[in-house]
Amino acid sequence: MRTFRALVTEINAEGQSATKLQTLDRSFLPQDGVLIRVEYSSLNYKDALSASGHKGITRHFPHIPGIDAAGVVEEDVSTTFTKGTRVLVTGFDLGMNAHGGLSEYICVPADWVVEIPNALSTRTAMQWGTAGLTAAMAMDALLSNHVSSDKGDILVTGASGGVGMISLCLLNHLGFSAIALSGKPELEESLLELGASRVLSRQQFAEEPVRALYSMEYAGAIDTLGGDYLVQVVKRLKFGGAVAVCGMAAGVELPLQVYPFILRGVRMLGIYSADSPLAYKQQLWRKIANEWTLNLDSICQEINLEDAPHYLENMLAGSSSGRYLVKI
Ligand SMILES: NC(=O)c1ccc[n+]([C@@H]2O[C@H](COP(=O)([O-])OP(=O)(O)OC[C@H]3O[C@@H](n4cnc5c(N)ncnc54)[C@H](OP(=O)(O)O)[C@@H]3O)[C@@H](O)[C@H]2O)c1
Repeated sequence: MRTFRALVTEINAEGQSATKLQTLDRSFLPQDGVLIRVEYSSLNYKDALSASGHKGITRHFPHIPGIDAAGVVEEDVSTTFTKGTRVLVTGFDLGMNAHGGLSEYICVPADWVVEIPNALSTRTAMQWGTAGLTAAMAMDALLSNHVSSDKGDILVTGASGGVGMISLCLLNHLGFSAIALSGKPELEESLLELGASRVLSRQQFAEEPVRALYSMEYAGAIDTLGGDYLVQVVKRLKFGGAVAVCGMAAGVELPLQVYPFILRGVRMLGIYSADSPLAYKQQLWRKIANEWTLNLDSICQEINLEDAPHYLENMLAGSSSGRYLVKI
């Protein structure tokens, strides 16, 4: 391979970002590492931030965004993988400060690379992507903390997003009763079809008067919003309940007293998929392939590389929903 096509984000002299499809030379990518021909990638919120020139995500531009990639090994100087092996990469520094998966090729360290289990296609792997792996980690954290389906409802916030929708599907698959919190009333029917037993209005939730504790409603929760929403979730958990804290789509501050923890024994479980140990990622991908098998076609829109900048902008504006699978 001498040249390849990729989406490249550049920052102009006025500090404005633009992301466009370009043809690049092989030398744009690192020379050592596993060279992977990418078949599918996906869009995640972090990609939207990186493509907008957010220096907290990506320090140096021009840059290829894309924290997810699945494809086939082209060459590997470390000899860990043979040519033709089907592999995926999610997280680590891919798409942040290493050139990412919205590209025909990536070249990454061997210890970022997961061999795709036989039962999973590169396409299905990227329907899940980082959003799905995060939902799987949240689910695993709740199960490991004794949150079982007989204990009561599980609340999913940011329910129309990638993490939220896959969480709903997974909870439904595992026999949990899931309640969706969403700011998009027009998607209520779709969220019910995915397995939510009820859909709550995010706007109404936000308008509740602040109290130290609310009545105990949920056995557990998967939160992607953070901020005041997470505070409300913690105050509504039942005795011994737990919330998997995944995201910060609505805020990073937590104005919270200790009452839910010392009076109800609730737990906050931090989820960070990007730098989770490779062995843990491999274990979850095996589970996704063989036990937590979901058909995600209804929540995934397949798009081309050329279309990705438009969808990344929508994602940043909070107007997107579900998952965007990028065919390379
Ligand atoms: N911890 C990790 O390892 C990890 C991994 C992946 C993602 N994340 C984080 O998890 C969050 C969700 O990721 P995602 O991929 O699911 O993103 P997404 O597809 O953009 O979905 C986020 C959802 O949050 C809600 N939302 C968006 N902006 C909001 C705002 N300003 N105020 C309140 N609600 C808002 C919307 O849902 P409704 O309209 O339905 O309410 C939206 O669909 C992000 O913060 C992301 O960075 C963390």
